[in-house]
Amino acid sequence: MAIILGLESSCDETAAALVTSDRRILSHKLLGQEKAHAPYGGVVPEIAARAHVEALTPLVEAALDEAGLTLAEVDAIAATAGPGLIGGVIVGLVTGKALAMAAGKPLVAVNHLEGHALSPRLAEPDLAFPYLLLLVSGGHCQLLEVRGVGDYRRLATTIDDAAGEAFDKTAKLLRLGIPGGPAVERLAAQGDPRAVPLPRPLVGSSDPHFSFAGLKSAVMRAVDTGLHQPADIAASFQQAVVDCIIDRTRRALGRADAPTALVVAGGVAANGAVRAALAALAAEQGLPFVAPPLWLCTDNAAMIGWAGSERFVAGLTDDLAVPARPRWPLDPSAEAVRGAGVKA
Ligand code: KG4
Ligand code: ZN
Repeated sequence: MAIILGLESSCDETAAALVTSDRRILSHKLLGQEKAHAPYGGVVPEIAARAHVEALTPLVEAALDEAGLTLAEVDAIAATAGPGLIGGVIVGLVTGKALAMAAGKPLVAVNHLEGHALSPRLAEPDLAFPYLLLLVSGGHCQLLEVRGVGDYRRLATTIDDAAGEAFDKTAKLLRLGIPGGPAVERLAAQGDPRAVPLPRPLVGSSDPHFSFAGLKSAVMRAVDTGLHQPADIAASFQQAVVDCIIDRTRRALGRADAPTALVVAGGVAANGAVRAALAALAAEQGLPFVAPPLWLCTDNAAMIGWAGSERFVAGLTDDLAVPARPRWPLDPSAEAVRGAGVKA
């Protein structure tokens, strides 16, 4: 049994967790930065990096305290090394390197996306490779065949915005504040999902890729008409996202190689409508549906500790010279998608 300290700082949550290779979460400490970014209507990278600097070391100490452990009792330090806002990634990775050096422990540089991709295995001991993963967060919208630790085939990505980004932009248009996704979901519960006609970009197209930019523009036009209740716009938008996700995921399932399960991870997996529709799709396809608990879907350090544990157990540790990477695709062989030039 190994004990791993996981660190996360790639966006606007600072977090530290102690996780064991036999799937116990000994402690998890997380500090969000919503208040610091709220006046700007979105995450400001420079403010995020400074906040990580202030928060991370106390969170590590608190995580060790809660677990009743000292650094000497930890087997490895796992830190997010990308992709993400580079200032924050550097803070977490340098902290991880310093702790690893000071304590004489191995370092595991974790791809944040691998953290999301493997997190369902922390919650679900029986989840075996390969599984089809829908990774839907604020920065990413991908369908991945998870074949093993470090072994991913990307079947689809977004050609423009990520689904969470679309939720956040819709929240902004409806003046709901950040984080946008949960606010849109709450408002949608009071609206009619058929009230506002909105497009379903790429639905029916042969490749399982995603696109949400056109949907966002349509929401903007719907808001501008002044004809619709905000709750109806929220509900119609959420339904359009769900329809896109289901059509694209069904298409990817047709291309996946005998998956053991349909799995969802990433912040948007916290959305009840998205989860319910995916569960129905899995049932239709005769597959188990696996969704980690909500707190494990959004950014956290337990998933980084767990991915670090899976890598550590597989003998995959990193040199202290490992770089922080703003972009870091999980499947480097995946073809670039036209229109997606700026995404990792
Ligand atoms: O995985 P995550 O915490 O951070 C990234 O790596 O991006 O995902 C955050 C994203 C945000 O865009 C947020 O609005 C969205 O997940 N999100 C939701 C919900 N909760 C979080 N979107 C829709 N419904 C939710 N309940
Ligand atoms: Zn994330």
